[in-house]
Amino acid sequence: MMLKGKRFLITGIADKHSLAMYVAKKVLEFGGSVVCTGLGVSQHHENLSDKAKAFLLSTYTDFQQCVEKELGEDALTRVMDVSLEASMDEFCQDMKKNNIHFDGFLHAIAMDKTIRKKVVKPLLEVSLQEFCETMDVSAYSLIRITKKLSDYEILNPGASICSISYIAAAKVTFHPYRNISIAKAALERITIELADELGRKNGTRVNCVRFSPYMGSKAGNATLNEKDVNYAGEVSPLGNAHPEDLAYDVVNLFRPDAKITGEIRHIDGGYHIMG
Ligand SMILES: NC(=O)c1ccc[n+]([C@@H]2O[C@H](COP(=O)([O-])OP(=O)(O)OC[C@H]3O[C@@H](n4cnc5c(N)ncnc54)[C@H](O)[C@@H]3O)[C@@H](O)[C@H]2O)c1
Repeated sequence: MMLKGKRFLITGIADKHSLAMYVAKKVLEFGGSVVCTGLGVSQHHENLSDKAKAFLLSTYTDFQQCVEKELGEDALTRVMDVSLEASMDEFCQDMKKNNIHFDGFLHAIAMDKTIRKKVVKPLLEVSLQEFCETMDVSAYSLIRITKKLSDYEILNPGASICSISYIAAAKVTFHPYRNISIAKAALERITIELADELGRKNGTRVNCVRFSPYMGSKAGNATLNEKDVNYAGEVSPLGNAHPEDLAYDVVNLFRPDAKITGEIRHIDGGYHIMG
């Protein structure tokens, strides 16, 4: 029960197959508690089309229902859109009002509109807006969440922050991702800079895990194809890692006494050692 009495913010659950859901379950298994945030309609969205509104409403309903079913009623659910400062303020005010503090959080958020139906746009065709949106949601959000929780004084000293990346942040792999790879590289660099800045400030730890390709989630299914996932599995000495393997590692990083920070580690069956 190494997480007994510890509470974690879990972002990035879309459904029961989300990597974040595996982590949330593991946190509970080890005695911790969770607050889960998902995309949904908030009063801070402006000029939402009917289509976008319907999408956000159904996304949030799916998220809420699966959290209740998989994690039980004690797991709180809230809307949080990391691209909207006001949505984040609202979430933090709500937590503060209810005296809810965190011992860390999982960043499991990525978005890239330049990948459609598994087809990746060449980098030369990526617009500045597409580049910046992907960077904002998938990388800068790590700074934004950390800053908001800190400003509202709801992130305890010595907290553990963890995000999820993949090998494409460093190498062109079996499946070139272009735009999102650059955002993942930024996410990893942000991890290292925050680890130094916050470790010295109050003992906060910041780490990132590069995970194997996984088609079970919505994001994985929308971007990967089976051929590439199988190839990664064949090349990796131990085969592809499973979401459960990732969850164990994150829980280990969440351990209050783990003296680990600034790491970009691999839970990928050894894929990263191959040439
Ligand atoms: N699936 C894989 O193969 C794989 C491999 C390595 C790393 N990852 C990373 O793991 C993380 C989780 O992905 P997943 O595979 O579980 O897919 P997923 O689709 O279950 O999760 C992605 C999440 O990002 C959220 N999100 C997108 N925009 C957001 C915003 N503006 N505000 C708040 N949340 C937003 C979505 O709602 C969704 O819950 C991502 O960072 C992804 O890049 C995935």
